[in-house]
Amino acid sequence: MSQDARTDQQLDSQQALALLKLYIEWGADEAIESTPQSRLVATLPQPAMPAQKSQPAPQLSEQPVPAFRPAPAPARAIGPMDQAAVLSAREAARAAPDLAALKEALARFDGVSLSKTATNLVFADGNPKAKVMLVGEAPGADEDRLGLPFVGVSGQLLDRMMAAIRLDRTSFYITNVCLWRPPGNRKPTDLELAAQKPFVERHIELVAPRILVLVGAAAAQGLLGTTEGITRLRGRWFQYQPGAGEQAIPALPIFHPAYLLRQPAQKRETWRDLLKLREVLS
Ligand code: URA
Repeated sequence: MSQDARTDQQLDSQQALALLKLYIEWGADEAIESTPQSRLVATLPQPAMPAQKSQPAPQLSEQPVPAFRPAPAPARAIGPMDQAAVLSAREAARAAPDLAALKEALARFDGVSLSKTATNLVFADGNPKAKVMLVGEAPGADEDRLGLPFVGVSGQLLDRMMAAIRLDRTSFYITNVCLWRPPGNRKPTDLELAAQKPFVERHIELVAPRILVLVGAAAAQGLLGTTEGITRLRGRWFQYQPGAGEQAIPALPIFHPAYLLRQPAQKRETWRDLLKLREVLS
């Protein structure tokens, strides 16, 4: 029996109720087949074994969607200014002894031009003492206006998804790999992400979560150091290595809620991924 099938069979009634509520919220409020089928048991062929090795589930011992997205800024080779930005980011991030200092250091950092076009730095939200830390891609217009991550339409979907596994912003912490809104919601460039990465790494180090949830391709690829697509990465456990000699943190990539708003059929996979998260937290 597969691990997924076992997981499904172990669903308790509370989880089943949460799933039903989620289905109704997502518009699946009608039975369309004459005989009942368990949607909780994997019936689709599983993809071939990925080249990159993922990890078994960690054991916790104590225990309305924009249709258009502007093209990314053109890629260009890394130059001396970019290198200088990364070095100064590293220095500033390393010198921050706590989250307040890290936020201040970011507010002063001028190595990313996005900070000049954005209205607000979007640092984080939620409970920094929580076991679970979510990392997404980049703020959109609502986040930029309010200075908080995931408060727009896709953030609201993310909150509902997390609520279905009994987590909310008092029981998770949330940030992004890009801390200022890219103009027009374009994708952040590799160079922009590289200049912010030391801050994101320090952010994770200071929060020291038990579990990382990597929301979407940019966070998963950037923090796991892979170019593998999110479709292959999602739902598998990886080990995020915070720094030499530090304890690795189990990391679970999931689809980005903005993608789920465009591709509702994938919500089922995300539900399965969230159950894996719930399972290790139980
Ligand atoms: N999408 C993200 O990845 N992050 C946000 O904060 C908002 C939308």
